[in-house]
Amino acid sequence: MIVLGIESSCDETAAAVVRDGKELLSNVIASQITEHSKYGGVVPEIASRKHIEVIIPVILQALDDAGMKLSEIQGIAVTRGPGLVGSLLVGLSVAKALAFSRKLPLAGVNHIEGHIAAIFLNDRTPSFPFVALVVSGGHTNIYYVRDFGVFALLGQTRDDAAGEAFDKAAKLLDIGYPGGMVIDKLAKEGNRELLNFPRAMRESLDFSFSGLKTSLLVHIKKQGKPTNRNDLAHLAASYQEAIVDVLVEKTIRAATMKSVSQIVVCGGVASNSRLREHFAVKCRECGMELFIPPPVLCTDNAAMIAVVGDNLLSNDKIDELNINAVSRWPLDKIDSFQ
Ligand code: KG4
Ligand code: ZN
Repeated sequence: MIVLGIESSCDETAAAVVRDGKELLSNVIASQITEHSKYGGVVPEIASRKHIEVIIPVILQALDDAGMKLSEIQGIAVTRGPGLVGSLLVGLSVAKALAFSRKLPLAGVNHIEGHIAAIFLNDRTPSFPFVALVVSGGHTNIYYVRDFGVFALLGQTRDDAAGEAFDKAAKLLDIGYPGGMVIDKLAKEGNRELLNFPRAMRESLDFSFSGLKTSLLVHIKKQGKPTNRNDLAHLAASYQEAIVDVLVEKTIRAATMKSVSQIVVCGGVASNSRLREHFAVKCRECGMELFIPPPVLCTDNAAMIAVVGDNLLSNDKIDELNINAVSRWPLDKIDSFQ
């Protein structure tokens, strides 16, 4: 089946064409980074307006890149939630209009499930069941994934998401937005063992990053903001290591507890180079198989939405045209099990 995926849950407007849930034919992403960077975070009203401006050109580009006409598309998949409602509604309205006018089946997709499903676009794919760490700007969750649509939540953040921990630190240090990418790059030049930032809740599979942020704030208050690139790099590397450490340690522990040997890491933060490196080393040590999408499929994209949509539509899970956007949509409420 050839599915057109549409994603507009936050600050990326994206469209992609995917064949049979695994072959990526096109993947267009229009980022709004420049619009939001002067505010140091996503401004919902600006995001919705920008989605409206670019969504049609983005879809046309995705069709063009795939060498497809709209008449060749067999299904529409669109992010329904979780996300900013005003942003979601832009993608959802266009998807409904396309489905109605072309008489195509529509699937409303959970964005978090999309992040996990991005791995099925890889050449090497995991088999069910596996443990997945979803690390993004809004989520830090560990799931036991039994099948498409069947998840058990094993651990989650009690406060900030890992991506937020990166973004807020970059804001405190005044080094740019979005913070994850800036800190990742800077940290490559620094010593990750120079400063000892706290690793919270070591015993649990849950996460907490607010103490880490406070500890950076205290450090800055005591020492002042670093004035040269070297000191800034050491600070970035040590701070990043505190995040990476707990993500890797808890995910591997969760997989061991569930007796699975395959781990999927996904979401925007999964494009972090140190996280990828540390996971690779630890998984090798523990005899686990690691699966991480390429960076472009870790951050928000519509290809991952098309993969889930293909599975839903192929199983006749077709949505009505009156579905609405949902700001909160826990994944384990899709088809949970004990
Ligand atoms: O998945 P995503 O694109 O959007 C959400 O669903 O939230 O994730 C965005 C998050 C942001 O917090 C951003 O700072 C973080 O992913 N991020 C990174 C890197 N690239 C993006 N964090 C750490 N290292 C990176 N290289
Ligand atoms: Zn995302």
